[in-house]
Amino acid sequence: MSSGDNIILVGCGKMGSAMLEGWLKTAPQNTYTIVDPALEKPPTDDTPVFSDLIEAAEHVRNATIIILAIKPQMMMSVCNNLAKHLPDAALVISIAAGVKIGSFEDYFGTEQPIVRAMPNTPAAIGKGMTVAVANAKVSLENSNKAKDLLKTTGKFEWVDEEEMMDAVTALSGSGPAYVFHLIEMLANAGIENGLDKNLSMTLARQTVIGAAALAEAEPKTSAETLRENVTSPGGTTAAALRVLMDGRAQNLFNETLAAAKHRSEELSE
Ligand SMILES: NC(=O)c1ccc[n+]([C@@H]2O[C@H](COP(=O)([O-])OP(=O)(O)OC[C@H]3O[C@@H](n4cnc5c(N)ncnc54)[C@H](OP(=O)(O)O)[C@@H]3O)[C@@H](O)[C@H]2O)c1
Repeated sequence: MSSGDNIILVGCGKMGSAMLEGWLKTAPQNTYTIVDPALEKPPTDDTPVFSDLIEAAEHVRNATIIILAIKPQMMMSVCNNLAKHLPDAALVISIAAGVKIGSFEDYFGTEQPIVRAMPNTPAAIGKGMTVAVANAKVSLENSNKAKDLLKTTGKFEWVDEEEMMDAVTALSGSGPAYVFHLIEMLANAGIENGLDKNLSMTLARQTVIGAAALAEAEPKTSAETLRENVTSPGGTTAAALRVLMDGRAQNLFNETLAAAKHRSEELSE
């Protein structure tokens, strides 16, 4: 990352604080200012904290990057206050679900460089998946800075078209919930097949944790190969997969993601 950005983090809750923790370790050359009315203690002694953007006006005027990590319903009042002091060249990065680049351009003008990003909850432990899209005013230098800041909480990918963000939200944004439900379904199926409730939940949970860790440890091995590695011909896994892979589960996942994508489209209207 190039040195010495003045970064304002607006909203230091679950996501904001997880990102800030990463930045303080990986990019200490930047200066960070926090705007959050709920923050009781600054993360470091020399990190200024303000309860609103009016108080932080002087810092906003000197900012090179603003990160908006507040709830979407707070966005209107925050952008109104931000627009009063925002430097023309400052890069605005929003992680708010469903708030489109066009809404920010309505506040700050179409010349403002803007990045819209979608993280997911594992970002809080550095295992997140963040996907982002930039408007035409984001330079190569700024897109590299945005990527460096956003990848501190896990993996990062760009998409070229903002329309993709609804499908992204449906897969990686909501996706952790599908995996938690998979744990629930495995545990229920274990009980159905004679296991004690607690034991079944322990087995289901640790199986998902272990399989995810294996996938992480072998990034070059496809999911298909990882699956085949567990499947001996004529064995128990093969018998199970004949049922699981008969198309019904895939159809259900297609419908699941379509429902999330549709809701994401509705929310960002
Ligand atoms: N959590 C996730 O998994 C996730 C995933 C993808 C995207 N996101 C997006 O990330 C954003 C933040 O989510 P979060 O889970 O981190 O929310 P959060 O924990 O509620 O954090 C938001 C923080 O912003 C503060 N805040 C409220 N009004 C403010 C204002 N006017 N100026 C400055 N700060 C203000 C809140 O204080 P109060 O508590 O006093 O209101 C809170 O500390 C949301 O837009 C969400 O859509 C979150």
